[in-house]
Amino acid sequence: MKQVVLLIFFFYFFNISIFFFAFLQVIGLADGRCFCQVTGDLDDCACDVETIDDFNNNRLFPKLQRLLESDYFRFYKVNLNKPCPFWTTTSHCGLRDCAVKPCSPNEVPEGVRASSHNKYSAAANEHQTDCEQENRLGAVNVSLSNETREALLSWNRHDDEAERFCVVDDEESPDSQYVDLLLNPERFTGYRGAEAWQIWNSIYEENCFKPFTIKRPLIPNVLHSSAGNDAKIFHSWLEGQCVEIRAFYRLISGLHASINIHLSARYLLDDSWFQKKWGHNVTEFQKRFDADLTAGEGPKRLRNLYFLYLIELRALAKALPFFQRSSFQLYTGKVEEDQKHKGMMLDILQLARSFPLHFDETSLFAGDEKEAAKLKEDVRLAFLNISRIMDCVGCFKCRLWGKLQTQGLGTSLKILFSGRQIEALPMSDIQGPAFQLSRQEIVSLFNAFGRISTSIRELQNFRELLAEEQ
Ligand SMILES: *[C@@H]1O[C@H](CO)[C@@H](O)[C@H](O)[C@H]1NC(C)=O
Ligand SMILES: *[C@@H]1O[C@H](CO)[C@@H](O)[C@H](O)[C@H]1NC(C)=O
Ligand SMILES: *[C@@H]1O[C@H](CO)[C@@H](O)[C@H](O)[C@H]1NC(C)=O
Ligand SMILES: *[C@@H]1O[C@H](CO)[C@@H](O)[C@H](O)[C@H]1NC(C)=O
Repeated sequence: MKQVVLLIFFFYFFNISIFFFAFLQVIGLADGRCFCQVTGDLDDCACDVETIDDFNNNRLFPKLQRLLESDYFRFYKVNLNKPCPFWTTTSHCGLRDCAVKPCSPNEVPEGVRASSHNKYSAAANEHQTDCEQENRLGAVNVSLSNETREALLSWNRHDDEAERFCVVDDEESPDSQYVDLLLNPERFTGYRGAEAWQIWNSIYEENCFKPFTIKRPLIPNVLHSSAGNDAKIFHSWLEGQCVEIRAFYRLISGLHASINIHLSARYLLDDSWFQKKWGHNVTEFQKRFDADLTAGEGPKRLRNLYFLYLIELRALAKALPFFQRSSFQLYTGKVEEDQKHKGMMLDILQLARSFPLHFDETSLFAGDEKEAAKLKEDVRLAFLNISRIMDCVGCFKCRLWGKLQTQGLGTSLKILFSGRQIEALPMSDIQGPAFQLSRQEIVSLFNAFGRISTSIRELQNFRELLAEEQ
């Protein structure tokens, strides 16, 4: 996991973060070290962390959790078998069907074995255990009951008849299958090491508009002698970028932080043959987010999580008119339940809309029209590319959640930047609507937001756990 530890930060961004230093005084307490800087005003909007915590943890989160357990939202159609388009995945440790088992000691040639038997077998055994664990924990359980299987066919027929706007290639591929998300929670899988590191590294290095000459601070496995200097150069480079590029970084960093919070909150604490116990691992959380242990980067990552939350919340609020149309239904074929769930969904969207301190997306892609259009396209393409990188994730369960969350964020951006079309939707649908979302997009939108909402809620748990430890 160490290698996955990330870095990206942008907090100098909007230059309004002066307040924030007032909170540095708490430094020294462990909970302070993770959270001291995660408080007060956020840099880019008229919003503060405490307002979000209260709004999310006490009001939105419980409702959203209930909605996500409904049939409409728990079954996600996804193609987990697309080949990685960018490099040959060499370590198949996490691959369900083609795990490459490392040589067992008797397969190692005699000569080699004789000279360094212990070293080889120890290494092989260790690797093998890692792989076994990853295979077990990283596999996706695709089982569906017979009734569900049948119901899903009728959903497909229904969706095919409904007017479609733009089908994500995954949806039509014969390799796509429905996965029950409740059977496959996002949690610690043992997926780590060079391959996991490569995923995040290629995202940050090749898809975030950063020149190679600017080094990210805190790159794992690199000697940290000049880490402070790298950080300074990096942050001042980032500061010099336009608001859209900075926002892009923050979204990716926020997503990364969110995933790491889940892995720390559902850590495999006990893995014996008779029981498995998942729960909070405070040490793991500190490793990723403690200001001292991360040279100040951890708290910045957490702030990016809040930024991501605001973006997705704003998208939900904006999408309300689309979901309010009477012709829109959460189709699963059970009329009464479908109506009840639509009611719950609208309730959540109204709540999202009532949030007083929304992110103002009109600050993005403003400016010169031609330049703005070009930038928008660049950002769109970079985002698309990142979603393709998700096909390179070796661990299937991680791939599932990676794909879902990038698609959800992509859908949020699609909503945010087609605002006028949504507002102009005819309530009657006589002319086909100008804006459409597919079932897959809707499911990913809500589930991705559910992940971020859960992360914010988990921060409260970690705060309490850290305070207890004092
Ligand atoms: C998948 O989930 C079903 C339903 O909970 C369970 O019966 C089955 O054993 C699981 N399969 C695997 C391989 O874990
Ligand atoms: C599900 O369907 C399969 C194949 O149609 C059948 O063999 C199996 O017995 C069914 N299971 C149940 C629980 O009905
Ligand atoms: C997409 O990502 C890959 C892997 O990081 C990278 O090599 C490639 O240059 C990217 N392509 C575009 C068009 O950004
Ligand atoms: C918590 O995570 C750390 C790694 O950060 C690990 O060494 C430790 O064993 C974990 N604790 C438990 C109880 O699993």
